Amino acid sequence: MIMDINRFFNIKNIFKSLKARFFVIVFLTGLISCLGMHALILESYEDRAINVRSTEVQTQLRILANHLIVSNYLLDTSSEVINAELDMLANLYDGRVIVINDDLKVVKDTYNISQGKTIISEEVVNCLKTGSKGTVSKYDSANGYIEIVTPIIESEVIEEEDVSVSGRSGEVVRGVLLTSVSTDTIATTLEILSRRAQTLEAIIIIFILIFAALVAFTLLKPFDRITTAINDVKAGYTDEPIVGPNYLETEQIINAFNALLRRMKVLDDSRQEFVSNVSHELKTPITSMKVLADSLLAMEEVPNEVYRDFMTDIGEEIDREDKIINDLLSLVKMDKKASGLNITSVDVVNMTEIVLKRMRPIARKHNIELTLESKRAITAEIDEVKISLVIMNLVENAIKYNKEEGWVRVELDADHQYFYVKVMDSGFGIPEESLDHIYERFYRVDKSRSREIGGTGLGLAIVRSAVLMHRGSIDVESKVDEGTTFTVKIPLIATSAAIKGN
Ligand SMILES: Nc1ncnc2c1ncn2[C@@H]1O[C@H](COP(=O)(O)OP(=O)(O)OP(=O)(O)O)[C@@H](O)[C@H]1O
Ligand SMILES: [Mg+2]
Repeated sequence: MIMDINRFFNIKNIFKSLKARFFVIVFLTGLISCLGMHALILESYEDRAINVRSTEVQTQLRILANHLIVSNYLLDTSSEVINAELDMLANLYDGRVIVINDDLKVVKDTYNISQGKTIISEEVVNCLKTGSKGTVSKYDSANGYIEIVTPIIESEVIEEEDVSVSGRSGEVVRGVLLTSVSTDTIATTLEILSRRAQTLEAIIIIFILIFAALVAFTLLKPFDRITTAINDVKAGYTDEPIVGPNYLETEQIINAFNALLRRMKVLDDSRQEFVSNVSHELKTPITSMKVLADSLLAMEEVPNEVYRDFMTDIGEEIDREDKIINDLLSLVKMDKKASGLNITSVDVVNMTEIVLKRMRPIARKHNIELTLESKRAITAEIDEVKISLVIMNLVENAIKYNKEEGWVRVELDADHQYFYVKVMDSGFGIPEESLDHIYERFYRVDKSRSREIGGTGLGLAIVRSAVLMHRGSIDVESKVDEGTTFTVKIPLIATSAAIKGN
């Protein structure tokens, strides 16, 4: 448990942990959308509130501007009604209204500060010049007010020729209303809203935290279960396949692991079988020798010929032991992938002739006719020693498992990619149920007969390894009591993978 905690708090592990990443992703997604919504809602509220406020004030100001013109206020500011109207507007919006005439002089200021002064603000001058464009308003969010510049327009009936001089529609700008309206109330509302949103956010964030943790832990639980199950297998508590119907992904991991487990079991079984076979095979000649030696010792006054006979038998057993050990060694060598192949360009027909020449004496001993038929000249990039071994083993079998006066035919052929070696015989044939097993180490169809003939069951295993190392293939067809045909197919050009022995 302490280990676990340490592991969890190891910073490097935290960044690597799928759970932590899941948690962070879910949490950040929740947090960002929550904060984004907050900002968006407040901002759009502010926009809308400012818009409503300035349209409202603008409407009022336009009406007021009309009143100013009607009561000629720009020339005479004594109108009680207008003054009251101005003050009311200023009070209502907690703001300030300044009336400016076309000489840029302040006629009236509801703050009573700037009366009589000249205002040369850019907005005011612009408004006087292009007053017909209407009201301009500007929101200063930092200081919390809206500034509105409204032209005071008098509509005139003008002569045709004056139109070009005084403006498009015969309107004359007599002055400007410069108004600033406080937005404090909006800011206060915003603040209240924001505070409420923050409280809500805090609650939501706590929920998101819990949710993210729950999601991360529950979604990834199956992975923990797999790790525990694999650890159980590793620790040796069980070698049962892992079960757990979870997600598609974990199911794939489980299936792959179970397949690996099965394969390891098969490998383990075959290794055990191999070891027991090897010891058995190596023990047989030794047992025979021991029996022979013991019986010699048990005899008194043994004649010389008997000694000779026994010693010959012992010598044969030693040869047998030697052959088994040599075969095992060549198998082991071929199993070692790194050993690779010694590739050279080889005349296959010539090589086969040499192998057959070596086999002829044995064939003759059994009165078996051994022939070679080659359809064309063949040159291939192969490991000469290993392919010779292949042909030798196949021909040796064809001779060994043949009847007296039988025949063995070797055929060579090639196409543009491969060359083919066919070894046919008129022998016992191999029963169908054994065909799948003949390449296994120490497998013999008929153990007693094979041993009589002198077989250990390693020949075809060596053949297959050598063929596979060349990226070739081997096929067998056989009919009991009629004969067997082995067909080996090897690429003419060695691939780099084959040379490296992978
Ligand atoms: N041409 C064949 N005809 C009939 N049976 C065969 C033929 N070739 C192989 N077999 C059967 O397949 C078995 C396996 O052959 P393999 O060459 O691997 O072993 P072996 O000949 O018994 O021993 P080794 O080759 O190691 O001396 C043989 O024991 C034999 O029963
Ligand atoms: Mg053999």
